[in-house]
Amino acid sequence: EQIKKGNYDHFMQKEIHEQPHSLTTTMRGRLKDKSVILGGLKDHLKTIRHSRRVVFIGCGTSYNAALAARPFLEELSDCERLAGQEGPIYREDTAVFVSQSGETADTLLALDYALENGALCVGITNTVGSALARKTHCGVHINAGCEIGVASTKAYTSQIVVMTMMALAIGDDRISNQARRESIIDGLYKLPSVVGEVLKLDGQINDLAKSLIDAQSLLVFGRGYNYATALEGALKVKEVALMHSEGMLAGEMKHGPLALVDETLPIIVIATRDSCFSKQQSVIQQLRARKGRLVVMCSEGDASLVCPGGSCRVIEVPQVADCLQPVINIIPLQLLAYHLTVLRGFDVDQPRNLAKSVTTL
Ligand code: G6P
Repeated sequence: EQIKKGNYDHFMQKEIHEQPHSLTTTMRGRLKDKSVILGGLKDHLKTIRHSRRVVFIGCGTSYNAALAARPFLEELSDCERLAGQEGPIYREDTAVFVSQSGETADTLLALDYALENGALCVGITNTVGSALARKTHCGVHINAGCEIGVASTKAYTSQIVVMTMMALAIGDDRISNQARRESIIDGLYKLPSVVGEVLKLDGQINDLAKSLIDAQSLLVFGRGYNYATALEGALKVKEVALMHSEGMLAGEMKHGPLALVDETLPIIVIATRDSCFSKQQSVIQQLRARKGRLVVMCSEGDASLVCPGGSCRVIEVPQVADCLQPVINIIPLQLLAYHLTVLRGFDVDQPRNLAKSVTTL
Protein backbone atom coordinates (compact mmCIF):
# COMPACT_ATOMS: atom_id res chain seq x y z
CA GLU A 1 0.00 0.00 0.00
CA GLN A 2 2.87 2.29 0.83
CA ILE A 3 4.17 2.20 -2.72
CA LYS A 4 0.96 3.56 -4.23
CA LYS A 5 0.35 7.26 -4.64
CA GLY A 6 -3.20 7.12 -3.28
CA ASN A 7 -4.90 10.51 -3.74
CA TYR A 8 -1.65 12.28 -4.50
CA ASP A 9 -0.16 13.20 -7.87
CA HIS A 10 3.39 12.40 -6.90
CA PHE A 11 5.27 10.34 -4.34
CA MET A 12 7.13 13.40 -3.10
CA GLN A 13 3.82 15.14 -2.39
CA LYS A 14 2.47 12.05 -0.65
CA GLU A 15 5.60 11.66 1.44
CA ILE A 16 5.56 15.32 2.51
CA HIS A 17 1.94 15.00 3.63
CA GLU A 18 2.60 11.68 5.34
CA GLN A 19 4.91 13.24 7.89
CA PRO A 20 2.49 13.41 10.83
CA HIS A 21 2.14 9.65 10.40
CA SER A 22 5.79 8.82 9.66
CA LEU A 23 6.94 10.79 12.69
CA THR A 24 4.42 8.91 14.81
CA THR A 25 5.78 5.55 13.62
CA THR A 26 9.35 6.75 14.19
CA MET A 27 8.54 7.46 17.83
CA ARG A 28 6.18 4.54 18.41
CA GLY A 29 7.20 2.52 21.48
CA ARG A 30 10.23 4.70 22.04
CA LEU A 31 8.79 7.37 24.34
CA LYS A 32 7.73 6.20 27.74
CA ASP A 33 6.41 8.85 30.12
CA LYS A 34 9.40 11.10 30.53
CA SER A 35 12.09 8.96 29.01
CA VAL A 36 13.30 7.63 25.68
CA ILE A 37 13.89 3.96 25.00
CA LEU A 38 15.98 3.04 22.01
CA GLY A 39 16.32 -0.73 22.17
CA GLY A 40 19.03 -0.82 19.50
CA LEU A 41 21.30 1.45 21.51
CA LYS A 42 20.61 0.52 25.11
CA ASP A 43 23.62 -1.78 25.52
CA HIS A 44 25.93 0.78 23.97
CA LEU A 45 24.90 4.04 25.61
CA LYS A 46 27.72 3.87 28.14
CA THR A 47 30.32 3.44 25.40
CA ILE A 48 28.81 6.33 23.45
CA ARG A 49 28.85 8.55 26.55
CA HIS A 50 32.49 7.75 27.13
CA SER A 51 33.54 8.25 23.53
CA ARG A 52 36.09 10.90 22.85
CA ARG A 53 33.96 12.19 20.00
CA VAL A 54 30.74 11.35 18.23
CA VAL A 55 31.24 11.70 14.49
CA PHE A 56 28.31 11.78 12.07
CA ILE A 57 28.63 10.55 8.51
CA GLY A 58 26.00 10.87 5.82
CA CYS A 59 25.41 12.25 2.33
CA GLY A 60 22.90 14.71 0.92
CA THR A 61 19.76 15.00 3.01
CA SER A 62 21.06 12.53 5.59
CA TYR A 63 24.08 14.77 6.13
CA ASN A 64 21.80 17.78 6.60
CA ALA A 65 19.72 15.84 9.13
CA ALA A 66 22.85 15.17 11.19
CA LEU A 67 23.71 18.85 10.98
CA ALA A 68 20.21 19.75 12.20
CA ALA A 69 20.44 17.42 15.20
CA ARG A 70 24.02 18.28 16.08
CA PRO A 71 23.46 21.30 18.37
CA PHE A 72 21.18 19.32 20.65
CA LEU A 73 23.49 16.31 20.63
CA GLU A 74 26.32 18.63 21.60
CA GLU A 75 24.25 20.09 24.40
CA LEU A 76 23.34 16.73 25.92
CA SER A 77 26.49 14.74 25.35
CA ASP A 78 29.68 14.83 27.30
CA CYS A 79 31.69 14.07 24.21
CA GLU A 80 34.33 16.59 23.39
CA ARG A 81 32.70 17.63 20.16
CA LEU A 82 30.67 16.33 17.32
CA ALA A 83 32.29 16.38 13.95
CA GLY A 84 30.91 16.55 10.45
CA GLN A 85 31.76 14.53 7.42
CA GLU A 86 35.51 14.80 7.17
CA GLY A 87 38.55 13.84 9.22
CA PRO A 88 39.96 10.64 10.61
CA ILE A 89 38.06 8.29 12.93
CA TYR A 90 39.72 6.61 15.90
CA ARG A 91 39.08 3.71 18.25
CA GLU A 92 37.84 6.06 20.99
CA ASP A 93 35.20 7.54 18.69
CA THR A 94 31.60 6.67 18.08
CA ALA A 95 30.81 6.94 14.38
CA VAL A 96 27.14 7.40 13.53
CA PHE A 97 26.19 6.58 9.95
CA VAL A 98 23.00 8.18 8.68
CA SER A 99 21.42 6.89 5.49
CA GLN A 100 17.82 6.55 4.37
CA SER A 101 18.61 3.66 2.01
CA GLY A 102 21.47 2.20 3.99
CA GLU A 103 23.17 1.52 0.66
CA THR A 104 24.95 4.77 -0.24
CA ALA A 105 28.41 3.77 -1.41
CA ASP A 106 30.22 6.82 0.01
CA THR A 107 28.69 6.26 3.43
CA LEU A 108 29.47 2.54 3.36
CA LEU A 109 33.09 3.25 2.41
CA ALA A 110 33.42 5.49 5.46
CA LEU A 111 31.79 2.73 7.53
CA ASP A 112 34.44 0.21 6.42
CA TYR A 113 37.10 2.72 7.40
CA ALA A 114 35.57 3.33 10.84
CA LEU A 115 35.20 -0.41 11.45
CA GLU A 116 38.84 -0.97 10.51
CA ASN A 117 39.88 1.74 12.94
CA GLY A 118 37.92 0.16 15.77
CA ALA A 119 35.28 2.87 16.37
CA LEU A 120 31.86 1.96 17.70
CA CYS A 121 29.68 2.17 14.58
CA VAL A 122 26.03 3.14 14.93
CA GLY A 123 23.59 3.00 11.99
CA ILE A 124 20.56 5.22 11.53
CA THR A 125 18.62 4.00 8.52
CA ASN A 126 15.16 3.56 7.08
CA THR A 127 15.97 0.22 5.51
CA VAL A 128 15.84 -2.98 7.51
CA GLY A 129 18.41 -5.47 6.23
CA SER A 130 20.41 -2.83 4.33
CA ALA A 131 24.20 -3.03 4.19
CA LEU A 132 24.35 -0.23 6.77
CA ALA A 133 22.03 -2.07 9.14
CA ARG A 134 24.02 -5.28 8.75
CA LYS A 135 27.52 -3.87 9.10
CA THR A 136 27.11 -1.45 12.01
CA HIS A 137 27.47 -2.64 15.62
CA CYS A 138 24.14 -1.21 16.69
CA GLY A 139 21.62 1.38 15.61
CA VAL A 140 18.14 2.71 15.21
CA HIS A 141 15.71 2.16 12.36
CA ILE A 142 13.89 5.38 11.62
CA ASN A 143 10.69 3.51 10.62
CA ALA A 144 9.49 6.31 8.34
CA GLY A 145 7.97 3.86 5.87
CA CYS A 146 9.02 3.33 2.27
CA GLU A 147 10.27 6.52 0.59
CA ILE A 148 9.98 6.49 -3.20
CA GLY A 149 10.51 10.12 -4.31
CA VAL A 150 14.17 10.71 -5.13
CA ALA A 151 14.12 13.87 -3.04
CA SER A 152 14.08 12.74 0.56
CA THR A 153 11.42 14.40 2.72
CA LYS A 154 9.84 12.24 5.41
CA ALA A 155 13.11 10.41 6.05
CA TYR A 156 14.76 13.76 6.84
CA THR A 157 12.32 14.67 9.61
CA SER A 158 12.39 11.13 11.02
CA GLN A 159 16.19 11.14 11.03
CA ILE A 160 16.22 14.39 13.02
CA VAL A 161 13.74 12.95 15.50
CA VAL A 162 15.79 9.76 15.91
CA MET A 163 18.99 11.70 16.51
CA THR A 164 17.16 13.95 18.97
CA MET A 165 15.93 10.85 20.80
CA MET A 166 19.47 9.53 20.73
CA ALA A 167 20.71 12.75 22.36
CA LEU A 168 18.00 12.39 25.01
CA ALA A 169 19.07 8.80 25.70
CA ILE A 170 22.75 9.79 25.89
CA GLY A 171 21.96 12.65 28.27
CA ASP A 172 19.72 10.48 30.41
CA ASP A 173 22.38 9.96 33.10
CA ARG A 174 22.43 13.57 34.25
CA ILE A 175 20.03 15.26 36.62
CA SER A 176 21.19 18.71 35.56
CA ASN A 177 19.44 18.53 32.20
CA GLN A 178 16.34 16.67 33.36
CA ALA A 179 13.90 19.58 33.03
CA ARG A 180 15.22 20.40 29.58
CA ARG A 181 14.96 16.75 28.51
CA GLU A 182 11.42 16.46 29.79
CA SER A 183 10.32 19.56 27.91
CA ILE A 184 11.78 18.16 24.66
CA ILE A 185 10.09 14.80 25.22
CA ASP A 186 6.84 16.66 25.76
CA GLY A 187 7.50 18.46 22.46
CA LEU A 188 8.11 15.13 20.71
CA TYR A 189 4.70 13.81 21.77
CA LYS A 190 3.04 16.87 20.23
CA LEU A 191 5.24 17.10 17.13
CA PRO A 192 3.13 15.04 14.66
CA SER A 193 0.05 17.17 15.24
CA VAL A 194 2.04 20.39 14.90
CA VAL A 195 3.45 19.06 11.62
CA GLY A 196 -0.15 18.49 10.55
CA GLU A 197 -0.84 22.17 11.25
CA VAL A 198 2.12 23.30 9.14
CA LEU A 199 0.94 21.21 6.21
CA LYS A 200 -2.15 23.43 6.07
CA LEU A 201 0.13 26.12 4.63
CA ASP A 202 0.13 24.15 1.37
CA GLY A 203 -2.11 26.61 -0.53
CA GLN A 204 -0.17 29.62 0.68
CA ILE A 205 3.11 27.99 -0.34
CA ASN A 206 1.69 27.18 -3.77
CA ASP A 207 0.98 30.92 -4.19
CA LEU A 208 4.52 31.70 -3.11
CA ALA A 209 5.83 29.18 -5.65
CA LYS A 210 3.80 30.91 -8.38
CA SER A 211 5.53 34.18 -7.56
CA LEU A 212 8.95 32.53 -7.77
CA ILE A 213 8.43 30.41 -10.84
CA ASP A 214 10.71 32.47 -13.08
CA ALA A 215 13.42 33.25 -10.54
CA GLN A 216 16.94 32.38 -11.61
CA SER A 217 18.09 31.69 -8.13
CA LEU A 218 16.88 31.45 -4.54
CA LEU A 219 18.92 32.07 -1.41
CA VAL A 220 17.98 30.68 1.99
CA PHE A 221 19.52 32.20 5.11
CA GLY A 222 19.52 30.28 8.38
CA ARG A 223 21.55 30.13 11.52
CA GLY A 224 21.92 28.01 14.66
CA TYR A 225 19.42 25.15 14.71
CA ASN A 226 18.12 26.26 11.34
CA TYR A 227 21.35 26.52 9.39
CA ALA A 228 20.68 22.91 8.35
CA THR A 229 17.12 23.92 7.38
CA ALA A 230 18.56 26.51 4.99
CA LEU A 231 20.89 23.91 3.43
CA GLU A 232 18.18 21.27 3.16
CA GLY A 233 15.55 23.70 1.81
CA ALA A 234 17.98 24.87 -0.87
CA LEU A 235 18.95 21.28 -1.67
CA LYS A 236 15.29 20.37 -2.24
CA VAL A 237 14.80 23.35 -4.58
CA LYS A 238 17.85 22.57 -6.66
CA GLU A 239 17.24 18.79 -6.72
CA VAL A 240 13.70 18.81 -7.99
CA ALA A 241 12.78 22.32 -9.17
CA LEU A 242 16.11 22.53 -11.04
CA MET A 243 16.55 26.10 -9.83
CA HIS A 244 19.85 27.36 -8.51
CA SER A 245 19.53 27.68 -4.78
CA GLU A 246 21.98 28.08 -1.91
CA GLY A 247 21.51 27.68 1.80
CA MET A 248 23.72 30.10 3.67
CA LEU A 249 24.79 30.87 7.18
CA ALA A 250 23.10 34.19 7.92
CA GLY A 251 26.13 35.38 9.89
CA GLU A 252 28.15 35.25 6.68
CA MET A 253 25.72 37.45 4.77
CA LYS A 254 27.65 40.68 5.06
CA HIS A 255 30.88 38.92 4.07
CA GLY A 256 29.90 38.35 0.47
CA PRO A 257 26.32 37.29 -0.31
CA LEU A 258 25.07 40.84 0.42
CA ALA A 259 26.59 41.91 -2.90
CA LEU A 260 23.96 39.79 -4.68
CA VAL A 261 20.99 41.48 -3.03
CA ASP A 262 18.70 43.45 -5.29
CA GLU A 263 14.98 43.75 -6.00
CA THR A 264 14.89 40.62 -8.12
CA LEU A 265 16.77 37.92 -6.20
CA PRO A 266 14.37 36.09 -3.86
CA ILE A 267 15.76 35.44 -0.39
CA ILE A 268 14.16 33.34 2.31
CA VAL A 269 15.24 34.22 5.85
CA ILE A 270 14.43 31.73 8.59
CA ALA A 271 13.70 33.78 11.69
CA THR A 272 11.65 31.64 14.02
CA ARG A 273 12.00 32.24 17.76
CA ASP A 274 15.14 30.87 19.37
CA SER A 275 18.37 32.31 20.75
CA CYS A 276 19.34 33.54 17.24
CA PHE A 277 16.15 35.54 16.72
CA SER A 278 17.52 39.03 17.33
CA LYS A 279 20.45 38.35 15.02
CA GLN A 280 18.07 37.21 12.31
CA GLN A 281 16.01 40.36 12.84
CA SER A 282 19.03 42.48 12.09
CA VAL A 283 19.74 40.41 8.96
CA ILE A 284 16.20 41.13 7.82
CA GLN A 285 16.67 44.84 8.49
CA GLN A 286 19.85 44.92 6.44
CA LEU A 287 18.18 43.10 3.57
CA ARG A 288 15.17 45.41 3.68
CA ALA A 289 17.45 48.45 3.66
CA ARG A 290 18.86 47.11 0.37
CA LYS A 291 15.38 46.48 -1.01
CA GLY A 292 15.88 42.72 -1.06
CA ARG A 293 13.03 40.53 -2.30
CA LEU A 294 12.34 38.92 1.05
CA VAL A 295 10.35 35.97 2.26
CA VAL A 296 10.58 35.62 6.04
CA MET A 297 9.74 32.43 7.91
CA CYS A 298 8.79 33.42 11.44
CA SER A 299 6.91 32.11 14.45
CA GLU A 300 3.15 32.57 14.56
CA GLY A 301 2.25 36.09 15.65
CA ASP A 302 5.60 37.61 14.66
CA ALA A 303 4.68 38.75 11.14
CA SER A 304 4.41 42.45 11.91
CA LEU A 305 7.54 42.31 14.04
CA VAL A 306 9.78 40.75 11.39
CA CYS A 307 8.20 42.57 8.53
CA PRO A 308 6.70 45.90 9.61
CA GLY A 309 4.30 47.46 7.14
CA GLY A 310 3.90 44.22 5.21
CA SER A 311 6.98 44.97 3.13
CA CYS A 312 7.83 41.31 2.56
CA ARG A 313 6.14 37.96 2.26
CA VAL A 314 5.84 36.06 5.51
CA ILE A 315 5.41 32.37 6.28
CA GLU A 316 4.22 31.95 9.85
CA VAL A 317 4.87 28.58 11.47
CA PRO A 318 4.03 27.25 14.94
CA GLN A 319 6.76 27.58 17.51
CA VAL A 320 8.10 24.41 19.13
CA ALA A 321 11.19 23.67 21.23
CA ASP A 322 14.33 25.07 19.58
CA CYS A 323 15.86 21.67 18.75
CA LEU A 324 12.59 20.45 17.18
CA GLN A 325 11.97 23.61 15.17
CA PRO A 326 13.99 22.30 12.16
CA VAL A 327 11.35 19.55 11.75
CA ILE A 328 8.66 22.24 11.45
CA ASN A 329 10.62 24.74 9.39
CA ILE A 330 11.66 22.35 6.63
CA ILE A 331 8.06 21.54 5.75
CA PRO A 332 7.14 24.82 4.00
CA LEU A 333 10.43 24.53 2.08
CA GLN A 334 9.66 20.96 1.03
CA LEU A 335 6.24 22.17 -0.16
CA LEU A 336 7.85 25.09 -1.97
CA ALA A 337 10.29 22.79 -3.81
CA TYR A 338 7.40 20.50 -4.71
CA HIS A 339 5.12 23.24 -6.08
CA LEU A 340 7.95 24.98 -7.92
CA THR A 341 8.77 21.70 -9.65
CA VAL A 342 5.18 21.10 -10.74
CA LEU A 343 4.76 24.70 -11.91
CA ARG A 344 8.03 24.63 -13.82
CA GLY A 345 6.98 21.37 -15.45
CA PHE A 346 9.78 19.12 -14.23
CA ASP A 347 9.71 15.53 -13.11
CA VAL A 348 9.02 15.56 -9.36
CA ASP A 349 9.83 11.99 -8.44
CA GLN A 350 12.67 11.33 -10.87
CA PRO A 351 14.74 14.51 -11.22
CA ARG A 352 17.19 14.39 -14.08
CA ASN A 353 20.64 12.95 -13.37
CA LEU A 354 19.78 11.91 -9.81
CA ALA A 355 19.23 8.52 -8.22
CA LYS A 356 17.39 7.66 -5.04
CA SER A 357 20.40 5.81 -3.82
CA VAL A 358 23.92 6.25 -5.18
CA THR A 359 25.42 2.81 -4.84
CA THR A 360 28.62 3.41 -6.81
CA LEU A 361 31.63 5.44 -5.78
C1 G6P B 1 21.24 10.53 -3.12
C2 G6P B 1 19.79 11.02 -3.10
C3 G6P B 1 19.59 12.00 -1.95
C4 G6P B 1 20.00 11.37 -0.64
C5 G6P B 1 21.45 10.87 -0.71
C6 G6P B 1 21.82 10.03 0.51
O1 G6P B 1 22.07 11.57 -3.48
O2 G6P B 1 19.47 11.64 -4.33
O3 G6P B 1 18.21 12.36 -1.88
O4 G6P B 1 19.86 12.29 0.39
O5 G6P B 1 21.62 10.02 -1.84
O6 G6P B 1 21.02 8.89 0.50
P1 G6P B 1 20.86 7.97 1.77
O7 G6P B 1 20.02 6.81 1.29
O8 G6P B 1 22.25 7.53 2.14
O9 G6P B 1 20.23 8.75 2.84
